[in-house]
Amino acid sequence: MPDVLIAPSVLSADFARLGEALVGLEEAGADWIHLDVMDGQFVPNLTFGPPVIRAMRPHSRLPLDVHLMIVEPDRHLEAFAGAGADAITVHVEACPHLHRTLSAIRALGKRAGVALNPATPVDGLAYVREVLDHVLVMSVNPGFGGQAFIPAVLPKVAALRELASLAGPPLRIAVDGGVDAATTPAVVAAGADVLVAGSAVFDAPSLAAGIQALRHAAGGVQAQR
Ligand code: DX5
Ligand code: ZN
Repeated sequence: MPDVLIAPSVLSADFARLGEALVGLEEAGADWIHLDVMDGQFVPNLTFGPPVIRAMRPHSRLPLDVHLMIVEPDRHLEAFAGAGADAITVHVEACPHLHRTLSAIRALGKRAGVALNPATPVDGLAYVREVLDHVLVMSVNPGFGGQAFIPAVLPKVAALRELASLAGPPLRIAVDGGVDAATTPAVVAAGADVLVAGSAVFDAPSLAAGIQALRHAAGGVQAQR
């Protein structure tokens, strides 16, 4: 398992060819597949839900990390787990009972993640550390691919490294939004170990070239870990 994982988001793929995109990403060396679920309420955009994930599942052996940008995620956890998710990431802003939600995800046998909007602080996550497998730091306001990276969120990544040292399952720290070869060095230097990237992978000359460019940009960076 490499130090820094590359998790391409199929939000930037051709939605009529999601199966092919998954096969191509695995061949191109992706580590995780990032699936952006949007409900038109928590975020202004709509994408796909459990039936589409169920249809994608047989096309990849890679872990599927489902990023739920939806209100009331608790109502749908079982459906996403049953559709083949390996990890389920909920937004803290959508979860008044975060400890209960994360515990429910882990009880389904899935990795539990929390996503933080750019304006959301890290405070409070220490209290759910025992049921937390990863944190997704949003470096754009969620809803769309291809937005500009917000560097002001990076101090949160450093703060999360301290959280990682507290008792609990091994903690991965992911950054999502505007991650490309230019922004990756700062992201990795801050201590992130999962790079989520949509347009940087799918707009590259090939999926392999896009993933390699991110790995290259991450390589050799002195990380705060
Ligand atoms: C944004 C999504 C991201 C998005 C990233 O709401 O959560 O995962 O796909 O796209 P890029 O890498 O193009 O910013
Ligand atoms: Zn995402």
